Amino acid sequence: MKVGIIMGGVSSEREVSLATGKEMMENLDPAKYEVIAIDVVRKQDLLEQARGIDMALLALHGSFGEDGTIQGTLETMGIPYTGCTLLSSSLCMDKDLSKRLLRYEGLHTPDWVLLRSMEELRDGRMAAFGYPLVVKPNAGGSSIGVTLARNEDELVQAARKAFSYGEEVLIEAYVTGEEITCSILNGAHLPIVSIKPGAEFFDYTSKYEPGASTEQVVTFEKEIGDRIRLAAEKSYQAMKCSVYARIDMILKDGIPYILEVNTLPGMTKTSLLPRSALAAGISFSGLLDAIIEGSLA
Ligand code: DAL
Ligand code: MG
Repeated sequence: MKVGIIMGGVSSEREVSLATGKEMMENLDPAKYEVIAIDVVRKQDLLEQARGIDMALLALHGSFGEDGTIQGTLETMGIPYTGCTLLSSSLCMDKDLSKRLLRYEGLHTPDWVLLRSMEELRDGRMAAFGYPLVVKPNAGGSSIGVTLARNEDELVQAARKAFSYGEEVLIEAYVTGEEITCSILNGAHLPIVSIKPGAEFFDYTSKYEPGASTEQVVTFEKEIGDRIRLAAEKSYQAMKCSVYARIDMILKDGIPYILEVNTLPGMTKTSLLPRSALAAGISFSGLLDAIIEGSLA
């Protein structure tokens, strides 16, 4: 089978995607797959380079990769691809829409407001949350453009920065607790990973600089573990995910607050999903096999 690893892309997460693609490249079993790397530098590169592959292994992150556009293009080209559908990808990329759906399903997610312009900051809708506030682009990843704002001045700066990454900005209440993540692969939970970020939150450096954070698989007491797994599963279903996804949460007083559902979670050397899979006895190449097989099923 000729597998094209689609990587790079045009989003702010291009570098992360190249790192994900490289790991995939090194771990795909050459006895099973003929592998070609497709670095998408311009959007049209996909159309030009993906012809002739049997399967697209998506290593892209962020907009034009994780938001359904690539999935739709591959559907039109008749090329099977790994992971979630177009619909699920677009839904999960929009944090505001995701949170509305999660709330509708009775799941916990930090309180938030969505801004479409800097002027909306003045309406004070977020006053009830208190500081600090988490300010992020509504459709981004890898914590790029995310700031923890401690006062009004910082909030204004943070919102400006987040708006430089997109047209909508999310302001979230800061939930103090343990950062955890739970992934689902082909219908099964992978072990829960606990993150001790090297900064006040799990920012870009904490995520990708080796050793900057401590991430470890943890075993919670059964009741809490079950609650986390159920929240992950309900989120996965609410967002109509398929094959695999990583659900990020903050655990506070035994309650998991869902931050987001990642449809193309990072697969770099420091990433959480491969680490969790390994703890379940699934090697990186076994994980890639499972993703490819699950996507073809
Ligand atoms: N957006 C990054 C790649 C992640 O969720 O792992
Ligand atoms: Mg994310």
